Amino acid sequence: MTVPNIDLAVRTLGPATIDSPLLAMLSDRKASYHWVDETDRVLVDDTLVAATARRVSASELPTYEPGGPRRKIFFGAGARAAIVTCGGLCPGLNDVIRGIVLQLSLHYGVSDIIGYRNGFAGLIGREPMRLTPDVVRDINEIGGTILGSSRGAQDPGAMVDRLVADGISMLFVIGGDGSLRGALAIADVIAARGLTISVVGVPKTIDNDIPYIDRSFGFQTAFGRATESIRAATVEARAAPNGVGLVKLMGRHSGFIACYAALAKNDADFVLIPEIPFRLEGEEGFLAQLRRRVEARGHAVVILAEGAGQELLAGRGSETDASGNARLHDIGLLMQERIAAHFRKAGLEMNLRYVNPSYAIRSIPPNPFDSVYCLRLAHNAVHAAMAGYTAMVVGRWHGRFVHLPIELVVSTRNTVDPDGDLWLSVLEATGQPRAFS
Ligand code: F6P
Repeated sequence: MTVPNIDLAVRTLGPATIDSPLLAMLSDRKASYHWVDETDRVLVDDTLVAATARRVSASELPTYEPGGPRRKIFFGAGARAAIVTCGGLCPGLNDVIRGIVLQLSLHYGVSDIIGYRNGFAGLIGREPMRLTPDVVRDINEIGGTILGSSRGAQDPGAMVDRLVADGISMLFVIGGDGSLRGALAIADVIAARGLTISVVGVPKTIDNDIPYIDRSFGFQTAFGRATESIRAATVEARAAPNGVGLVKLMGRHSGFIACYAALAKNDADFVLIPEIPFRLEGEEGFLAQLRRRVEARGHAVVILAEGAGQELLAGRGSETDASGNARLHDIGLLMQERIAAHFRKAGLEMNLRYVNPSYAIRSIPPNPFDSVYCLRLAHNAVHAAMAGYTAMVVGRWHGRFVHLPIELVVSTRNTVDPDGDLWLSVLEATGQPRAFS
């Protein structure tokens, strides 16, 4: 794995001098296979070939700082914490909010907690919400975020003014790449002003496009819900003469939802993702391959990531949303038209069943696996903030919780590797060609 030339050491606000209230729980622990001591490091590489290819000594290999509770912490129980949720919805936002509130109040004695409403906009405008264990009771049972969310940046200086005015010691930013960039800008202003406010991010995106972590929370739930749409399209396609089930799934730049949902059902004939451009026309193009599959099997199922094939829609204008993301053109509509036209031209009956679950995959509560992940990310975020770490996100890497500098996770995007084993599995499961050329 390529690691950019970024210091992997996480910034701190200063020496941690206060005994942690968790000390009794920690004192007998010894580093073990299942736990990394706070003084240890987690290797970025997990294969011998990758590690030796760096041609450096073991101590110079790139490593992450382990997550988890520290024996000495920076903030005491008098600290005041704030939480903000930013960007598109994601299953598990409420679980993370609840996990942070309960961990802070029940284990660190920090009971003064507020939530800014509707993303970074809430750090500029509206009155925040008081968060207590009572307020967050049962919120994990519902989708969305009790704080609301929004896209878009705000002036970092003005946001820091607000944190100072509100007496905040630590800010938890639950968001994707744009929001984490915003969190970094806030942490930089805090550092430039010599303030001691910790900024800790929790990586959120159903697209799973945040790099250098195993996965973002909510992704598993989202692709799980997407499998229900694949089932619907498959059942419909099988029942109709020459049925074609076409399922469009979220995934702006990264096709992870499409790949995982397709693999989970193992019924798809084709998976089209943003990372792999494809041609429609020609004997080896997608349309001819689809027609041949329908002729051979009587039906076919196509999984389409919303960001796939945008090159086929070039010249239709370029707008961006409030986060600065390019607004996608509707590949689902184009594919419906072109598939219908192709079969018509070939003189073949075809019955298209188009399923677009859209927001339905991200507005639901998390599945139990994501709930556990959200809770453990929340615990680790609190441990980090209480210990005075800042400008960082918590994540899981090779099954271990780690601290990553925000600079690292916003330096690139996690995408499906066309030469990687996930895509190979998709090719094996679908039997589709490597390229539609
Ligand atoms: O958060 C990622 C995502 O779900 C993308 O997959 C999708 O393109 C985008 O958000 C749509 O979000 P919105 O309509 O809220 O801008």
